[in-house]
Amino acid sequence: MCGIVGYIGEKTAAPILINALKKLEYRGYDSAGIAVFNKDELKVVKCKGRLAALEEKLGNEVVDGNIGIGHTRWATHGEPNDINSHPHISNSGSIAVVHNGIIENYMKLKKFLEAKGYVFASDTDTEVIAHLIEYHYKGDLVKAVTESINELEGSYALGVICRDCSDQFVAARKDSPLIIGLGQGENFIASDIPAILEHTRDIYILEDKEIAAISRNNVRIYNNYGAEVKKEVMHVNWDVASAEKSGFEHFMLKEIFEEPKVLKNTINPRIKEDNVVLDGININVDELNSIEKIFIVACGTAYHAGVVGKYIIEKLAKIPVEVDLASEFRYRDPLIGNRNLVIIISQSGETIDTLFALREAKKRGAKILSIVNVVGSSIARESDNVLYTWAGPEIAVASTKAYNTQLAALYLIALDFASKKGTIDANTHSKLMEELKQLPDSIEKILQEKKDIQKFASQHYNAKSIFYIGRGLDYALSMEGSLKLKEISYIHSEAYAGGELKHGTIALIEDGTLVVCSMTQDALFEKMISNIKEVKARGAVVMVITQERNKPELQKVADMVITIPDVDSLVAPIAAITPMQLFAYYVAVHKGCDVDKPRNLAKSVTVE
Ligand code: AGP
Repeated sequence: MCGIVGYIGEKTAAPILINALKKLEYRGYDSAGIAVFNKDELKVVKCKGRLAALEEKLGNEVVDGNIGIGHTRWATHGEPNDINSHPHISNSGSIAVVHNGIIENYMKLKKFLEAKGYVFASDTDTEVIAHLIEYHYKGDLVKAVTESINELEGSYALGVICRDCSDQFVAARKDSPLIIGLGQGENFIASDIPAILEHTRDIYILEDKEIAAISRNNVRIYNNYGAEVKKEVMHVNWDVASAEKSGFEHFMLKEIFEEPKVLKNTINPRIKEDNVVLDGININVDELNSIEKIFIVACGTAYHAGVVGKYIIEKLAKIPVEVDLASEFRYRDPLIGNRNLVIIISQSGETIDTLFALREAKKRGAKILSIVNVVGSSIARESDNVLYTWAGPEIAVASTKAYNTQLAALYLIALDFASKKGTIDANTHSKLMEELKQLPDSIEKILQEKKDIQKFASQHYNAKSIFYIGRGLDYALSMEGSLKLKEISYIHSEAYAGGELKHGTIALIEDGTLVVCSMTQDALFEKMISNIKEVKARGAVVMVITQERNKPELQKVADMVITIPDVDSLVAPIAAITPMQLFAYYVAVHKGCDVDKPRNLAKSVTVE
């Protein structure tokens, strides 16, 4: 996620802004910049790279004003480079803006502003905001920002300074967090508490669509209708370490709790007036109809997302799909050519096995579509088409929110292909899109019910081995549930197709063996009931994950029933993985494992 900071007071702003941005580095970023009010001009210094590069660039500049804004950018729209870095300035140079979030209607606003004569320098959605505020600015910055945010769709946390206002700057937010630090003769804004803890522990938390006018000795807050809002001061007693995790004990839990927001960021901008609109993908109907088979190639969690993708794309778009581990694909002399589409999935966009598999496929003439979380990463740059998952930086080694958004991206691709090929009717298409849009709320509900999962984990963290079983999409899901448990709790685990147990593995089930059954697929429900009875008869303890509607029946046969809202079976994996992630997390915490940095593992495997 991007990081925003702002300062107004008696001190020189630049070093305060830089040090505050350093406290937000843990959020992940690829470029940085500041804008400082210097006597009667705005000085903007920004560049690609780490804060050290910005400090070096600042070293040669005279930047001594005492009001400014700063930004660390996690790229979503536009490659990481100097031009796309924030702050962005309006054409007249009078308005500078820093932004965290995604403006979903930026193309429409960009066209409107270009028609008004505004010239754009960058590829970002943010630049629209700088020109829009200038367009509305008639001498009152708060009013101009208010009118502008009322035209924005999407998520934003904004810091805005103006060349004509030497005694205040403005902040606003919707969906992306923003706090106001209240000092003595100085005030701050920041995306997160760590940035201002050394200056003050008294803050206002800005609510959605609130606008703040911040001067040295005063902070006034308004709603988006212009009415002043009274705020309670909140005193922060966190230490810095817990503040970086926004109060969560681990980044992994924080990232699981970000799933509703990042799913919204990934899905909503791509569903417009009942249609899937995939930015970054240029595959027309003729090209689609010429595809004989799709290969999905990835590693680890991304591979497990690919297995779900196979079921979805085949069911909706009726195109045969083969899923490969990247480390196998690149050496097996794959039968692949220009009649194939290869979908590469990678959170980091740097996994070496996956990158080399991409090159192998390209060498053989296949078209490449990648699903990546890091803008401008090696895999993104070498692909013909890229659909970004806007999950923000994933700090914990165990992938969670990235997996949910990878699934969402695969569903969007399957719906887009199915709609282009006419393999599903309009009804099914709109029903599934509605289901996708409801998913963030469904996951929100699951997160509120985490205590049952936490309790069950506390009873089973000493397990020697845990089996995950399911059928169809639930089998694909079980693969990821099992990996999550293994990689952070170090407990042996296997994912098994429910129908396959009787062919050998059931010999391992004995008294007290924990079996996690994923049961979200209505059509295979009865078959899974038989599997539960099979393992129960051998002494297993059974935890089921299923839709709310199935709880009464499953309570009769299982030891623990964890429910998700009554989502359609087809989209269930995107929600049903969350209880599995939480279960793995709480087991690992009870075992005292290093949850965010498990032994032997790296966040991005850039070596073979
Ligand atoms: C998953 O929790 C692991 N961190 C690992 O399996 C990971 O998914 C795999 O290394 C692929 O990484 P990528 O998505 O960045 O390519």
